Amino acid sequence: MKIELHELSPDPDRFQVEVCQGLKRSQKELPSKYLYDERGSQLFEQICTLEEYYPTRTEAQIMAAHIEEMAELLGPGVLLLDYGSGSSAKARLLLDHLRDPAAYLPIDISREHLLRAAVELARDYPELEVRPIHADYTGAFELPPFKRVPTRRVAYYPGSTIGNFDPLPAEQFLERVAKVCGPGGALLIGIDLVKDPTILHRAYNDSQGVNAAFNLNLLRRINRELGADFELEQFKHYACYNPRERRVEMHLVSQQDQSVHLNGMTIHFEQGESIWTESSYKYTLERFAEVAGAAGFSIEQAWFDKRRWFSILYCRVQGA
Ligand code: AVJ
Repeated sequence: MKIELHELSPDPDRFQVEVCQGLKRSQKELPSKYLYDERGSQLFEQICTLEEYYPTRTEAQIMAAHIEEMAELLGPGVLLLDYGSGSSAKARLLLDHLRDPAAYLPIDISREHLLRAAVELARDYPELEVRPIHADYTGAFELPPFKRVPTRRVAYYPGSTIGNFDPLPAEQFLERVAKVCGPGGALLIGIDLVKDPTILHRAYNDSQGVNAAFNLNLLRRINRELGADFELEQFKHYACYNPRERRVEMHLVSQQDQSVHLNGMTIHFEQGESIWTESSYKYTLERFAEVAGAAGFSIEQAWFDKRRWFSILYCRVQGA
C-alpha cells in the first residue's frame, strides 16, 4: 500500500528564528519541540523503556486494563487523530480494539520517524486508511482528505505531552483540538499526575544518562542544522521539580564562561547560566478539569493506575 505524506512542515527558517529569539532572552530558552530530530526521537523512545521513567509503562498499564471500555466509548467508525504519534506504538492497542475505524491520521514533527511508522502500520492494518501528517501541531494545520465519513473525530494525545505546554498555551492548544474534532468529537488524553518529587527526579535524571543525551542532542542539532559551535562537553543536563509551578524543568547548564556563535550572532554564557529546554507540567485532576473545561471539553471518564501516578481521560467536546 502506498502511503501519501501530508507535508505541512514549517519553513526551515522557523527553527533558526525561534532558536535565535530564545537564546537572546535573559533566561535563555529553546522550544522543547525541537528535541525531536531523528536522533532525538530515538533517544526519547529509549527513555520510554527506562525503569526509572515510569510514565510510559504506567500509561500502558492503564490502557491495557481499560481498553475495552475505551474502545466502547470511542465507538465504531471513528476518525483517529494521533497527536505526536512517534512510532505509533500506543495507537496500535487502540486500533486493535476499535470497531471499524474510519481512518488513522498520525501527526508528528519528526518526518522520517512518522513515515516509517505509518508504512509499518499500514502494512499491519491493510483495511485502514492511514494518512500521516508531517506538521508542527502546536500551531494550526489542515487535515488531508480522507475517504470515509467518520461517525466522530477523536484526538488521541497520550504520554502527558500536554505537560510540555505552559498553562495558557495548553488551553489554547486544547481549544484548537476541540475545534478540529468538532461537535460529537472527543479527546483521549494521558496526563502525568503530581507526586513525590523523588520519583520525578529519578525519571528525569536516569542513571544511564539517556535524559541527558536527549537534552544535549538539541545543541548537536543546532550545530548541525544552523552551523553553530556549541561545545557539548561544556554543557550539562539539569532537571528539577518546581513544586510551586508543578513542573519538571529541564535545563542545559554552562560549565564555564563561554561564547557560542550562531548565524553571525555571538551568545555569551556565564558559568552556571542555563538554557531552559523543557517544562513538563504535572497535573491534579482538578487542575486539568479547569484547563480542559476552559478549552471546551468536559471529562466523561478517568482511569488511573493503582498508585495514582498517571491518568487517562476521556473528554467530550462540550455542547455536542
Ligand atoms: C514527551 C512529554 C512525554 O515531558 O516527560 C522525557 C519528554 N523529557 N524526558 C516528558 C521528556 C525528558 C516527555 N514527554
